[in-house]
Amino acid sequence: ATKKLWGGRFSGKVDPIMEKFNNSLVFDRRMWAVDLAGSMAYAKAICLAGIISEAERDELLSGLLKVKAEWAADTFVVKDGDEDIHTANERRLTEIIGPTGGKLHTGRSRNDQVATDVRLYLREETRRLRSLLVELLHTMTSLAREHLPLLMAGFTHLQPAQPIRFSHWVMSHAAALLRDLQRLVDQEQRINVLPLGSGALAGHAFGIDREFLRQELGFAGVSLNSLDAVCDRDFIAEFLSWAALTTVHLSQVAEDLIIYNYTKQVGLSDAYSTGSSLMPQKKNPDALELLRGKAGRALGAATGFLATLKGLPRSYNKDLQEDKEPLFDTIDTMVAVLQITTGVFATLTPNKEALAAQLVPEMLATDLAEYLVRKGVPFRETHHISGAAVKLAEERGVPLSSLTAGDLQALHPCFGEDVAEEVWSYEKSVERKNAPGGTAMASVRAQIDAVESYVTAL
Ligand code: ARG
Repeated sequence: ATKKLWGGRFSGKVDPIMEKFNNSLVFDRRMWAVDLAGSMAYAKAICLAGIISEAERDELLSGLLKVKAEWAADTFVVKDGDEDIHTANERRLTEIIGPTGGKLHTGRSRNDQVATDVRLYLREETRRLRSLLVELLHTMTSLAREHLPLLMAGFTHLQPAQPIRFSHWVMSHAAALLRDLQRLVDQEQRINVLPLGSGALAGHAFGIDREFLRQELGFAGVSLNSLDAVCDRDFIAEFLSWAALTTVHLSQVAEDLIIYNYTKQVGLSDAYSTGSSLMPQKKNPDALELLRGKAGRALGAATGFLATLKGLPRSYNKDLQEDKEPLFDTIDTMVAVLQITTGVFATLTPNKEALAAQLVPEMLATDLAEYLVRKGVPFRETHHISGAAVKLAEERGVPLSSLTAGDLQALHPCFGEDVAEEVWSYEKSVERKNAPGGTAMASVRAQIDAVESYVTAL
């Protein structure tokens, strides 16, 4: 069996089941590049601290480059004793360059090393997710801009409520996703902090220049306390919580579209639908159902990992190795759901006729009340009068808009002949909502501009 890096004080063998239980290389190998980048910076730093000579530093650096080339070419051969990416890389480095490889870990622990690696890794991934989210928002604002004139039924409690613009609906989801983008950007400053130089828990015994390490690795700051730094996984909990909330938002997009697809108000591209193995007529909105379903998975990862952290004593404990699988799974999930949602919006076709068919005159009952408000009647009264009109139409079994001026005047003398033109118009109803944030065309356009200018300035 291969010698363990930590084997000195051991005489007994590790149970093979324990070996497998303890192994994280199967999943943490994806951090090979950042692990090597961290080691290169560290080699330079221990040289500056006088721990190794410049010649030794150069030996380490060229060895690390060779290890890197092996990973990049997919020729890195994992050996039995490699329990994680850190031990695998160091073992290989020492094979390549000999005993000098054994100087690299001076003053360093896998505890500050792994914390550094995960931060470097997540920093890259949040940047990728940021650009995917920006792309999604661009797709949504383009769709909204393209269909500005299109009206649809707005709902509360899944009941027809008031007419809105289709674009206003699109921008309602963009508004939530913009906050998710802002939260993603905001957490980067807490991810981008250097733990390296904290040692195992107590700090660095050789006076390492952590400011130098910070600059080498492009971190914005240096961790405050070594005991905290090796066990701080807040940034992972925060990222997972962010992902949970973002997927919840995407599940809401999905649910709306599942309903609008069911009522034929929107058409989904074949590219994001699938058929049935039994029923030939089927075209199912599977992309949307998966988007809705993935939220459960992300929520599970966030709550599960918080449960892992709860009650952990200071400082590093192996429980923390449980951070990576939920993190990596969630990153992969987020990449997928953002790309799919972008594709869904890019290929979505609103169906004019079906959208119009959902608009019913009863959705203008509020406008009927507001007509009287404009004549000076207190709103609370007008609400009752309009309600009486709705009741009358219902009793007669006719649409609200077919009540005559005479019918309405019997309910309140302020109703005039212009009700037909002023009230029974979905377009006018929508255009009256022209305060910022409303569904009038100018207000929706301003929302589109605001989202676009935020993402362009990023
Ligand atoms: N694979 C470990 C992890 O992911 C690395 C740190 C191990 N440190 C230790 N002292 N056992 O957390």
